[in-house]
Amino acid sequence: MTAQTYVTLNRTGDKMPLVGFGCWKVSPNDAEDTIYNAIQSGYRLIDGAADYGNEVEVGRGINKAINKGLVTRDQIFVVTKLWNTYHNKDRLRGAFDKQLKDLGLDYVDLYLIHFPVPLKHVDINQAYPAGWYQPNKEEIEFEASPMHECWGEMEKLVDAKLARNIGVSNFNVQLILDLLTYAKIKPAVLQVELHPYLQQSRLVAWVQSQGIHITAYSSFGPASFVDLTTDGKTAAPLLEHPIIREIATKHNKTTGQVLLRWSTERNVAVIPKSTNQERIESNLDIFSWSLDKEDLEKIASLEKGLRFNDPYSYNFNLPLFN
Ligand SMILES: NC(=O)c1ccc[n+]([C@@H]2O[C@H](COP(=O)([O-])OP(=O)(O)OC[C@H]3O[C@@H](n4cnc5c(N)ncnc54)[C@H](OP(=O)(O)O)[C@@H]3O)[C@@H](O)[C@H]2O)c1
Repeated sequence: MTAQTYVTLNRTGDKMPLVGFGCWKVSPNDAEDTIYNAIQSGYRLIDGAADYGNEVEVGRGINKAINKGLVTRDQIFVVTKLWNTYHNKDRLRGAFDKQLKDLGLDYVDLYLIHFPVPLKHVDINQAYPAGWYQPNKEEIEFEASPMHECWGEMEKLVDAKLARNIGVSNFNVQLILDLLTYAKIKPAVLQVELHPYLQQSRLVAWVQSQGIHITAYSSFGPASFVDLTTDGKTAAPLLEHPIIREIATKHNKTTGQVLLRWSTERNVAVIPKSTNQERIESNLDIFSWSLDKEDLEKIASLEKGLRFNDPYSYNFNLPLFN
């Protein structure tokens, strides 16, 4: 089994694995076995979200691994995310409690605000996970829920020892700069889309300089968005790109390993998702070698400013990243 490498989070000093397992698009039917298997294969970080619609099953997989003695609770780093419809200060705790109950855990290691987008509340009994639209409507509706109130509720989860660390996802520098003016607890992590087509080098450098760790999602670029992208964004699949292939061949690695290694060499954590055993194992096995200067220069040349997880692409008329 591959040894893990960790980064140390601010405030708690908790060790967060540099490679974790992503739960988006793992079907609820498979999630318990997939997560158990990922832990058995050596993963020590599980990245979930209410929005992925599989938290009950993900929790079963984690608990099965604990009950069977594969890991103790403190050896597994559980991440989940607050959905947009529960930002309101009167709603956040109820939504978190449901997630914790679904997961079957006493605490999570990291709780992230999934998007800086407060949407009108949707009752858990009406639709869960709620998604972007109001039930039976095809439009998004916002709610007047300021981020400082939402963050205050996140901090209360830490005070109550229900979330060891808190952080944000899909936030830009402007919003983090503002958050840092009122946060009593600084975010531990920023999770963003990051791959050679969207390198975000200035964001990464500035956020890291603030003592906030970065986790990259969608390290394989377009691989997960083939069925979602509606505004015609196309690019050669990164996993088959000739430059990535050339580097992989040179080091006798897979293209997936090159893409993951590229992030972890910048101390950026990765959370690849796979339901294929060979890929589950190879995605974790990225620590015994390095990319050289020439490889890094070639990968730098692939920057396209190409973002795949953009609400604007989903016909929401929400240019979140502009
Ligand atoms: N915060 C956010 O807003 C946000 C947004 C998106 C994702 N995320 C998180 O990030 C995680 C990963 O991102 P992602 O789901 O977009 O996708 P990803 O991990 O970049 O790509 C997953 C896709 O690549 C395939 N794959 C995995 N390893 C491979 C390899 N070594 N070679 C070739 N193909 C490979 C998978 O298929 P197989 O299963 O068949 O291997 C799947 O189709 C998510 O699961 C989620 O936890 C967070």
